[in-house]
Amino acid sequence: MILGIETSCDETAAAVISADGHIGSNVVASQAELHARFGGVVPEVASRRHLELVAPVVREALAEAGATLDDVERVAVTQGPGLIGALLVGLATAKAIAWSRRLPLVPVDHLRGHVASLYLQPEPLEPPFLCLLASGGHTMLLDVRGYGEERLLGTTLDDAAGEAFDKGARLLGLGYPGGAELDRLARDGDPAAYEFPVARVPGLDFSFSGLKTALLYATRELSEAELADRRADLAASYQRAIVRALVRRVRDAADQTGAATVAVVGGVAANSELRATLPDAALAPLVLCTDNAAMIASAARFAAPVPYPRYLGLDAYASR
Ligand code: KG4
Ligand code: ZN
Repeated sequence: MILGIETSCDETAAAVISADGHIGSNVVASQAELHARFGGVVPEVASRRHLELVAPVVREALAEAGATLDDVERVAVTQGPGLIGALLVGLATAKAIAWSRRLPLVPVDHLRGHVASLYLQPEPLEPPFLCLLASGGHTMLLDVRGYGEERLLGTTLDDAAGEAFDKGARLLGLGYPGGAELDRLARDGDPAAYEFPVARVPGLDFSFSGLKTALLYATRELSEAELADRRADLAASYQRAIVRALVRRVRDAADQTGAATVAVVGGVAANSELRATLPDAALAPLVLCTDNAAMIASAARFAAPVPYPRYLGLDAYASR
């Protein structure tokens, strides 16, 4: 069995999976409420909370899988990218567990983890495929040629898609993180009510900052009562523009690469309109789209483990 640990942002997560990708447990303790009043993740607060939560979350993951540390053959942990203090809590925990049992450790890139969410049972996807990775921190198009073998085709020039959702939600007076809430609100709105621009950037890159500004201007023109009245329309139109931008690029990339299979991963893959607009795409179940440790353990199936005790010197990295 593989024990996975993920602490790159504001989710403290641990999971146990089998070597062939069956999920034994997938425990996620979200800190979202803790950070909500600040309107975003406060790194120092996140690190401290990870420290409190990581041991109980690992214990719960083992218990839920009906396993003990005796069953664990390798430990997988997110090494980066993410908040450095938050990452270090997970990395130090993973090192300690692996070292105490003389187990090998697999440091996992968080983005590769998102891609590996597609390799889990019961319906594992096999490379090659074209993958859109859209999360709070990243928006990338990847040509996935094999397990752990990705070529970057395009990325965002400014905000990530999830960030655009969260910033839009904030302008509409929704909570943090607002992506899922904006998604819900948009269901009651008219997506054609507002004409929001889809940025035209060359190649296969993305840009979302102009869209966010357009929403800001649209909300500014409204009184509070009008805003309350038009919120669902604004949400629906804004969401439509983000989804259009993403889908357009996925289609461009599929044309260029001739990819037969398209997949979407990351928190934004949970978006209902995006899922509906790409009905043929491979999509992980919702719990595997947002940050979790099962995907980290999954990535560790396809990476070389660092033998005991060489991993003790490993460091986390904030960006790629
Ligand atoms: O992958 P993830 O959990 O964390 C990062 O690695 O960033 O992605 C979180 C992002 C947030 O920006 C959140 O608002 C967004 O995914 N998100 C959504 C939905 N659910 C989560 N965005 C749009 N619609 C949703 N249903
Ligand atoms: Zn993520």
